Amino acid sequence: MTLRAVLAGTGSALPRTRVSNAELAERVDTSDEWIVERTGIRFRHIAEPDETTATLGADAARQALAAAGLQPADIGLIIVATATPDNTFPASATKVQAILGTPDCIAFDVAAVCSGFLYAVSVADSMLRTGAAKHALVIGSETFSRILDWEDRTTCVLFGDGAGAVVLSAKDVDDDQGILATRLHAEGQYCDMLYVDGGPSTTGTVGHVRMQGREVFRHAVTNLAAVLGEVMADVGLSADQIDWVVPHQANKRIIDATAKKLGLPAERVVLTVDQHANTSAASVPLALDLAVRDGRIKRGDLVVLEAMGGGFTWGAAVLRV
Ligand code: ACO
Repeated sequence: MTLRAVLAGTGSALPRTRVSNAELAERVDTSDEWIVERTGIRFRHIAEPDETTATLGADAARQALAAAGLQPADIGLIIVATATPDNTFPASATKVQAILGTPDCIAFDVAAVCSGFLYAVSVADSMLRTGAAKHALVIGSETFSRILDWEDRTTCVLFGDGAGAVVLSAKDVDDDQGILATRLHAEGQYCDMLYVDGGPSTTGTVGHVRMQGREVFRHAVTNLAAVLGEVMADVGLSADQIDWVVPHQANKRIIDATAKKLGLPAERVVLTVDQHANTSAASVPLALDLAVRDGRIKRGDLVVLEAMGGGFTWGAAVLRV
């Protein structure tokens, strides 16, 4: 028997308001045609003032708990991956804990922007296998609309708000169920290529997203293809044994180019960027939940998760569902 972190349930939450490219083009100098051709994005959800990173995260968490057949009191660890916390502190994970009514447990945030969920999954995997908790809620939740410069058409059309959550449970297994490998990377010398131009310790303001799109695109394809190769090598499996890839949903062209580099057919890649745009740390668990709920991802499937974001940071995980 081997103690592994297994996927016990998934959930997601989207803000009530959905905005199409055409609606966005009424307030920003852009067009549906340009956005679809360059990114594949058609819609994004934008949070209303009463919808925050913590409330969306808690909604996604409730769904994941129900899917796992667990109660908030069963959870011993809550990790929220976010770059848009409700407050500078406390951690949004503690706010989620309060909303859910989870008693004393471990709760903290992880900041690795778009790859935050991969970082959070990797940390939760380690903590579950060393006995820190029996059940963990791992949440990616973002309200990126709050840090967009709506005058900057090169960035504001790309992002959306939302949350995704998984319950990971420590379980003794006699097969290859559960998280089989994770890999994380960061190269801080690229921190000026995708960043927010504010913060408590510098400007004292929240700031806005700034990005060198072409450079991000180039690094994303190279890094994501490399890290997928690494996790597959770690588990001794080849790309043709993957049932589903759930990639970070930044841009359809990045997703297509990465899949092509690895020889992965498009039918095995979960795509939600058209409906949600880039929801940063929420994008992977949101896409995972959709594909689990619509029956594409089933028990026994080999699933690979991957993401890259500001820092640069990037990572991947391979699991048997
Ligand atoms: N609508 C209309 N025109 C626009 C818009 C817009 N929203 N934004 C830029 N343009 C114009 C530019 O002004 C430029 O016009 P010009 O030729 O007259 O100067 C033209 O479109 C081309 O601009 P580029 O920046 O060269 O366009 P590019 O083909 O590189 O596409 C994009 C831009 C979509 C941002 C691309 O670089 C990209 O996808 N990069 C990856 C960025 C990303 O996904 N970041 C997400 C966070 S990181 C992550 O999650 C991996």
